[in-house]
Amino acid sequence: PKLDLGLEPDKLVAKVPFFAKTGADRISEIADMLTPRLVVPGECIITRGEPGTAMYFISSGAVEAATKPQPVRLGSGDFFGELALLTQEPRSATITAISYCQLLVLQLDDFNRIIAAHPDLQAQITEVASERLDKNALI
Ligand code: CMP
Repeated sequence: PKLDLGLEPDKLVAKVPFFAKTGADRISEIADMLTPRLVVPGECIITRGEPGTAMYFISSGAVEAATKPQPVRLGSGDFFGELALLTQEPRSATITAISYCQLLVLQLDDFNRIIAAHPDLQAQITEVASERLDKNALI
């Protein structure tokens, strides 16, 4: 049997519920824009205060956002790094891998392309982003 390293973008994208819901037709269009990235436990993925250049979808594994007063754990199917791209503010929190993670990276120009072409995806991302912003505003 073929060894499955789990690195084919189409399969990784289909595993992220956020994309699975959008339908098979769009999966390969979106998969073309995503780059798989494997990170190791303890690896820093986003540093607070830096400019945002990409957002990330978690295909497997878990990360921690160093938000205050409590850190937030994100896992399979979640995304992060969207806030800086939407608001053009610096990164709002440092994000560190807490296990081996298979991530899908969406660069800023492709992010802009996707949200312009798919208003439903834009709405989903914006909804999560504004909930996060509301929480962080309470600090
Ligand atoms: P960004 O500001 O680009 O980089 C840090 C990321 O942490 C941010 O985007 C969000 O994706 C994520 N983040 C910030 N605040 C929260 C929160 N309260 N809950 C979950 N994720 C968050």
